[in-house]
Amino acid sequence: RAGWCWGLRRCASLPRALRVREALQAPEPLERVKVQGWVRSVRSQKEVLFLHLNDGSSLESLQIVADPSLESRDLTFGSAVEVQGKLVKSPHKKQNMELKAETIHVVGPCNALLFPLKMKERHPLEYVRQFPHLRCRNNTLGSLLRIRSEATASIHSFFQDNGYVHIHTPIITSNDCEGAGELFQIGVANEAKESAEKTHFFNVPAFLTVSGQLHLEVMAGAFTRVFTFGPTFRAENSQSRRHLAEFYMVEAELSFTESLQDIMQVMEDLFKTVTSTVLSKCPHDVELFHKYIASGQKGRLEQMLKKRFVIISYSEAVEILKQASQGFTFKPEWGCDLQREHEKYLVKHCGEIPVFVINYPYDLKPFYMRDNEDGPQHTVAAVDLLVPGVGELCGGSLREERLPFLESRLQRLGLADTYQWYLDLRKFGSVPHGGFGMGFERYLQYILGVDNIKDVIPFPRFSHSCLL
Ligand code: 4AD
Repeated sequence: RAGWCWGLRRCASLPRALRVREALQAPEPLERVKVQGWVRSVRSQKEVLFLHLNDGSSLESLQIVADPSLESRDLTFGSAVEVQGKLVKSPHKKQNMELKAETIHVVGPCNALLFPLKMKERHPLEYVRQFPHLRCRNNTLGSLLRIRSEATASIHSFFQDNGYVHIHTPIITSNDCEGAGELFQIGVANEAKESAEKTHFFNVPAFLTVSGQLHLEVMAGAFTRVFTFGPTFRAENSQSRRHLAEFYMVEAELSFTESLQDIMQVMEDLFKTVTSTVLSKCPHDVELFHKYIASGQKGRLEQMLKKRFVIISYSEAVEILKQASQGFTFKPEWGCDLQREHEKYLVKHCGEIPVFVINYPYDLKPFYMRDNEDGPQHTVAAVDLLVPGVGELCGGSLREERLPFLESRLQRLGLADTYQWYLDLRKFGSVPHGGFGMGFERYLQYILGVDNIKDVIPFPRFSHSCLL
């Protein structure tokens, strides 16, 4: 029986320890088992006591049926318990198995009156967010974290299966890849009383990384295809529902590629592979979101997975926006960044499926992007992937691999000295290459239909908030 685990039993006389998920999926009754978890509900009737037990292994809880004599004062909602008994077929259609308890041991009592997440209530996400240390006991966060874990594993498998090497890019760095000034500086002594050098732990200004891209470019110059997936930091003073100060970014870099099409293909394949895996491995957890959090979403992802993503150029996007019947707070003009309202309109215009926007104005984008050398409307080979409800999900580009182009751009920006090492990469075996970054929380927001990014990460950090 593939996938069926008989649980731990170190010695024949001890009961088998089962996770709730294993107990629910057991193909046949079992005599002596032990299940541990937290009580989700207690219902005491005259002749029988019902408990529901959850241990985080599944959305569904295991029903425990017990004699009322096993009830104790400490057996309340939220308490941690260990139950031993017989696993039997459940008479209820909805559940495969239930546990007939022989003993119930309260491992850790819980004052249910003071516990902020009440037994039967479906609390709004904003309320639950106030309790980052307890909200994982709630169904919504439980489902989210199982989905996050599956999606993470699937992202790693996708890249490993396609010949990419996983690189641990540093969290502490001395460069500002994006040049957007959203850096958290670190390593500066609190009392800057002594000499200038002593105030810098690293002797140079150091920051929390805003992107692992430049380090990946180093590695793509030896391993051809590389990826990283780790925490990323931006000091964006924003309370928006799509920005965090600490988020997870998936980044990939490919050598020997001369076309944005190749980069877009990887983005689309990654997106579709991970989403299909999550849908097949966590159907109940995804359904919870689509039923209660973002109603009307059922079937939306399956439909989207069958379609090719749309590709338009930045110039076409501006024309579409200019011809829109609706007004915008920010007037669309060639040369201006696309605002949230513009992204929303473009996605709607293209049929509410993901849209790649390519070839952005040269002056809007960071120094590393490849010059398209294309006349008065000067552009770079950049791509953003926009998705319904969220807006920008991925950003990528071909990188400027030609030494003279890169050197003159860095000189104009006054950065040539800082990026000598980066220029070296163009001197010693430079190849056409490119890559992209995908915000992991925005990805989860999109597939689950969650309005606020703070509800798709276990411990959200944003301006004026760092709970725990
Ligand atoms: O478009 P960005 O800034 O691209 C880069 O950093 C590139 N260096 C990546 C690369 O080419 N290797 O960021 C990539 C994605 C965005 O599209 C967005 O999804 C996410 O990272 N992102 C954020 N997510 C949450 N909170 C924030 N403050 C974010 N800033 C960017």
